[in-house]
Amino acid sequence: MKKISFIIIASVMVTLQLYAQDAKMNAFVSELMGKMTIDEKIGQLNLVTPGGAVTGSVVSSDVDNKIRNGQVGGLFGITGPDKVHKAQEIAVNNSRLKIPLLFGLDVIHGHRTIFPIPLGLSCSWDTALIERSARIAATEASADGLDWGFSPMVDIARDPRWGRIAEGAGEDPFLGSQIARAMVKGYQGANNDLTKTDVIMACVKHFALYGAEDAGRDYNTTDMSRIKMYQYYLPPYKAAVDAGVGTVMSSFNEIDGIPATGNKWLMTDLLRKQWGFKGLVVTDYTAVNEMSAHGEGDLQTVSALALNAGIDMDMVGEGFLTTLKKSLQEGKVTEQGINDACRRVLEAKYKLGLFDNPYRRMDMVRANKEILSAEHRKAARETAAHSFVLLKNDNQLLPLKKSGTIAVIGPLADSKRNMLGTWSVSGDPAKSISVLEGIKNGAGAANIVYAKGANLSDDREFAKHVNVFGTEIDFDNRSADEMLTEATTIASKADVVVAVLGEAADMTGESSSMSNIGLQESQLNLLKALIKTGKPVVIVLFNGRPMTLTWENDHAPAILDVWFGGTEAGNAIADVLFGNYDPSGKLTTSFPRNVGQIPIYYNHKNTGRPLDGNEFQKFRSDYLDVSNDPLYPFGYGLSYTRFSYSDISLSKKEISPNDKLQVRLTVTNTGNFDGEETVQLYIRDMVATITQPVKELKAFQKVWLKKGESKEVSFTLSIDDLKFYNSDLNLIYEPGDFKVFVGGNSRDVKEAGFTLTK
Ligand code: BGC
Repeated sequence: MKKISFIIIASVMVTLQLYAQDAKMNAFVSELMGKMTIDEKIGQLNLVTPGGAVTGSVVSSDVDNKIRNGQVGGLFGITGPDKVHKAQEIAVNNSRLKIPLLFGLDVIHGHRTIFPIPLGLSCSWDTALIERSARIAATEASADGLDWGFSPMVDIARDPRWGRIAEGAGEDPFLGSQIARAMVKGYQGANNDLTKTDVIMACVKHFALYGAEDAGRDYNTTDMSRIKMYQYYLPPYKAAVDAGVGTVMSSFNEIDGIPATGNKWLMTDLLRKQWGFKGLVVTDYTAVNEMSAHGEGDLQTVSALALNAGIDMDMVGEGFLTTLKKSLQEGKVTEQGINDACRRVLEAKYKLGLFDNPYRRMDMVRANKEILSAEHRKAARETAAHSFVLLKNDNQLLPLKKSGTIAVIGPLADSKRNMLGTWSVSGDPAKSISVLEGIKNGAGAANIVYAKGANLSDDREFAKHVNVFGTEIDFDNRSADEMLTEATTIASKADVVVAVLGEAADMTGESSSMSNIGLQESQLNLLKALIKTGKPVVIVLFNGRPMTLTWENDHAPAILDVWFGGTEAGNAIADVLFGNYDPSGKLTTSFPRNVGQIPIYYNHKNTGRPLDGNEFQKFRSDYLDVSNDPLYPFGYGLSYTRFSYSDISLSKKEISPNDKLQVRLTVTNTGNFDGEETVQLYIRDMVATITQPVKELKAFQKVWLKKGESKEVSFTLSIDDLKFYNSDLNLIYEPGDFKVFVGGNSRDVKEAGFTLTK
């Protein structure tokens, strides 16, 4: 009793404290706003980049003067304590009200120490590891002068043609939500105290549905039912909001025929009213201006549309800066609207402690000590190893022995540039470890020989499209035949071939959609020639998206998917190849057999004519020329060891809405290595008024098992896990039969059933 009253008193005190803090902030901001002219208020809504073009044209010029005139609220695209300090000095010393600037940047998968691309990170299914990667990124970014990172990107993606699938956590809303939470916590610190000097404010993006664009083409139209939105696409954004994310970024696409940036239902009714978001909403890069091309009117019209929808800050386009005053005079926006937006920008600065000390996140001493520290690199190496997915490993070809001759062949083997992956703007490729270096570091007594074997692509026009940020696809002086001959000659003399193939870093990421997601022809030719030598070939595959690997899967005995592992990629790859770490990554996106199967995802509906088995059946929902199954399903990934699953035991056969259901089973490591398994639990609601998917992930657990060891794994399901959205968009449950599945991937599962009573 005593304990309970103590808990109640403590939580009341915390609430009172929060109220007091809010009241103090409100009073401070109100007083400041009382001194501001309308121009100064509009100036706070302007987010500019003073550097070169980042992902579009740069509108702003004469940035220094604009800062002096109070026409800039924040800057992004500059980094480093000294540079940031200089810009801040202008605002704090030379602008009338001395309001500090907010400094943002794309800190996406690490800052200077680069971690695996987000899609790779998600394959670890390890939220603690993911949180730590975001924590380290925040530590480095804050030392480097930054207050704000444009991450996490939580857009659910079911279409691997879309290049930005690399930046998210895959196709599943449950896992995506867990990861969203972990990243917000990592960036903003465990108790969301943004005044701390080693945290940055996070920005969940791209709100919303950016991953659902037609045909996987970037910036394309999105259209979907509300039920689909609520059940599959919105949960990760909501999870970030619930975790206290400081800011939200609008997406480029339209929703219900209105671009997200001007969509009042989305930004106000859903985000603020339904979800209770109180922070700052920023547009994506020139997203206000782009509404003109969408067909919503001239710059003044679309700027008013955005403000009225609930946008606070205009990234790059200066539509707010140049038109809002006129719109106010003409009655197209209200002063209240401008005040609300300005208040939110100032509140963000207040929460970040910038009014107390505008230089608090510029720390040369900390930057020198912590950036790319041995500790951070160690964490990056460990995280990368956990992100790799072993797709195939016939006859236990892997792990490799540290003896004999290993031929390391392929255009990505000796490339530092391509290790970091897309959106690693502050990463230094020169600091990254290539695969060849990593293998040499870890090979012990083995003799390592190397050949490039092929260009990443022989298509020069294509290479130009990819090489926008620097040369990622380069062209050897030798002919394709000469390179092939060199490669097959050394392969023939080796004991094993490691073929390092795949995509260049910027073949995924923004504006990097592809209609062919297989290996480039030059590389396929190389692979065929290597396999023809008769030597065992291990493919080490770099990719930012699921690729079509049907031929590779049929012909290569081993495939290790390494995504883009970041600064320590090469060492981490060697750790896994040589068995220092037994791979445990599991796919978070389905890998299609061919492009025609796209969109392909595990949590699909049954339809009225489901296919029974795998064989083609006339008048069933299938294809004449390819099976319905993906090549590798969601949740899939092998290990050097093997895990076996006992049958499922349920605590009850019938549960009422107030009951909890225990789902238990035993997992045994039956192979020859110690290893880690991700045990996945899915459910299916067999009868519901809204049709439900054939499987939905509801829980997972990582278990570490020594060779021969068994562990009981237990999950608890409650009524919340059995709910779905109905036509009124209420989250409801309906009594009836359910199935529960548990396994090491979404395909190979044990199954049991229970009934939910009234
Ligand atoms: C991207 C965002 C990014 C922004 C700022 C845009 O093009 O869509 O994800 O945060 O640029 O660099």
